[in-house]
Amino acid sequence: MIKSFEKNIDDLKFQIELGVTETIKSNINENLNNPDLEENIFINDQNDLSEIKNLEDLKSYIENYDKCELKNTSRSTVFCDGNSKSKIMLIGEAPGNQEDIEGKPFVGKSGKLLDKILEFININRKNCYIINIIPWRPPGNRNPTTKEIRQCLPFVKKHIELVKPDILVLVGSISAKSILDKDIGITKLRGEWHIYKDKKLEIPALPIFHPAYLLRRPTSKSLVMKDILLLNRKIQYKE
Ligand code: URA
Repeated sequence: MIKSFEKNIDDLKFQIELGVTETIKSNINENLNNPDLEENIFINDQNDLSEIKNLEDLKSYIENYDKCELKNTSRSTVFCDGNSKSKIMLIGEAPGNQEDIEGKPFVGKSGKLLDKILEFININRKNCYIINIIPWRPPGNRNPTTKEIRQCLPFVKKHIELVKPDILVLVGSISAKSILDKDIGITKLRGEWHIYKDKKLEIPALPIFHPAYLLRRPTSKSLVMKDILLLNRKIQYKE
């Protein structure tokens, strides 16, 4: 009980540090698997992406999609950065303020830390591809709601299907839980490979701590470095 209270206080402090202006409750995966909910049925019906055959068309579909309210409060549709021919795809959570301004994922403070971590194993924006679960900035950097994740997940799945990477790196808890469809925290998910499965695709996926979390808890950097070495082994030796 005391532990969970402390965790809530910790989470609040973290959100304030990130510039959040509203109280946020973590609600990822709540209802995510309940097909009977009206909102879920509605969202699934709206997302028939089977006609889309390339990234350009997917980008324009998302840019013209008007069912997600986040679009109305953000400046940019943040579609991707990096090299779509790369075999490594990183999936983050959602754009922050700087990403919203520049229209690219991970270009703010946590993006700079992510770049540094990746540089350690010679990964950069020329040899990896980066997207987010949510292409629009949630107001005040709040966590995306279950409904918003559900609305945007088909875009991400289509994105993966079109790029066909060999490796997925799931950056942060929202990304890991949504892509792996698991209601397990990042602390438990990280540190080992999982498999992302969709239609005929089966892609090894490595959850890692979000760099924003590392900015707050620098002591966890050693764990992310362990994960980055796992990633390097997979790239070098397919282990
Ligand atoms: N955090 C993310 O998860 N993605 C971004 O693009 C920026 C910050």
